[in-house]
Amino acid sequence: DWTSEQFIDSTVAELQQTLGNDKVVLGLSGGVDSSVAAMLIHQAIGKNLYCIFVDNGLLRKDEFENVLDSYKHMGLNVKGVDAKNKFYSALAGLTDPEAKRKAIGRVFIEVFDEEAHQIEDVKWLAQGTIYPDVIESVSVKGPSATIKSHHNVGGLPDFMKLKVVEPLKTLFKDEVRLVGRTLKIDEAILGRHPFPGPGLAIRILGDITAEKVHILQQVDHIFISNLKKTGLYDEVWQAGAILLPVQSVGVMGDERTYENVVALRAVTSVDGMTADWSRLPYEFLADVSNEIINKVKGVNRVVYDISSKPPATIEWE
Ligand code: XMP
Repeated sequence: DWTSEQFIDSTVAELQQTLGNDKVVLGLSGGVDSSVAAMLIHQAIGKNLYCIFVDNGLLRKDEFENVLDSYKHMGLNVKGVDAKNKFYSALAGLTDPEAKRKAIGRVFIEVFDEEAHQIEDVKWLAQGTIYPDVIESVSVKGPSATIKSHHNVGGLPDFMKLKVVEPLKTLFKDEVRLVGRTLKIDEAILGRHPFPGPGLAIRILGDITAEKVHILQQVDHIFISNLKKTGLYDEVWQAGAILLPVQSVGVMGDERTYENVVALRAVTSVDGMTADWSRLPYEFLADVSNEIINKVKGVNRVVYDISSKPPATIEWE
C-alpha cells in the first residue's frame, strides 16, 4: 500500500542518487504542486535547490509577500523576483484572452531564464508536474491546457539546456496533499483553491492596468476572506471574482454613480473538467456584496455567476 512516508523516503533517496551535488532550479507558484516538489527536493539536496518565485503583478492581494514568507519559514532557498512592471508592459493594450496568456507565458520564461542564468553551473530544472498534467499534455486540449503544458510539462525553452526532474509525476492531487502534510507544509498552501497561471489577467475582461488589478484584488480579498471566515472555503472547489468591462448606474447618497460591475464565481468540482455553481447562502452573498460595494472604490454592483460547466467554463476568459 502507498503511504506518503514511504513515498518521501524512496523519492528523497532517488533524488540524492540522481542529483548528487548538482544545482537545481525550480519555479514556485504559491500552489500545492510546486511547493511540495520544492520541499521534497529540499529534503534531498538542501541549499543546492534554488527556488524562484516571480511576482507577475497578477496574484491575489498580499499573496506574494505572504507566500514568500511561508517559503522562507519552510527553510527553502528562495528568491522573490518583482517583475510586475514587465508583465504590465507586455500586457498593455491586450484584450484577447489568448494574447494575454501568451504574453504572460513569454514574460515568465524571460524572467525565469534571466534568474536561472544567475545560478552558476545549474544543471537541472525541477517541476511540480503531477500525473494528471502528464495525461493532459498528451491529449488534445484547448488553449488553457496549452499554456498549462507550457508552464508545467516539458515547457523548457531551447536556450535553457537543463535536465528536467519531476518528483511528483506519478501522483494524483490528493496524494500530493498527503505528501505535503507529511512534510509539514503550511495548510494555507496545501488547502488552497486552484489558481490559474495567468492569474487575475484572465479575470479582468479586456485590457489590464495596475489600477484594475488593484480593484480586483480588493474585491477578491473580501470574497475569499469571507469564505474562510464562514468555513465555506473548503466546501468550494474554486472561487474568485471577475472585473467586467461594464459600468452601471448606481446611487450613493444624492449622487448618481457610474462605476464597475464585478461578478463573483464559486464552483464545486472534482477535477475542474466539469463544475457546478456553488449554492452559497443568500445571507453570505448579501454580506459579501455589501462589503464590496461599501469598501471598494470604483465598484457599485455585484452579480453572482450561476452557470455550470459545461457549457460555461469556470473562468470567463
Ligand atoms: P476553465 O475556465 O477552463 O478552467 O473551466 C478549468 C481550470 O483551469 C484553470 N485555468 C488555467 N490554469 N492557466 C492555468 O494554469 C490557464 O491559462 C488557465 N485557464 C484556466 C481554471 O482556473 C480552472 O481551475
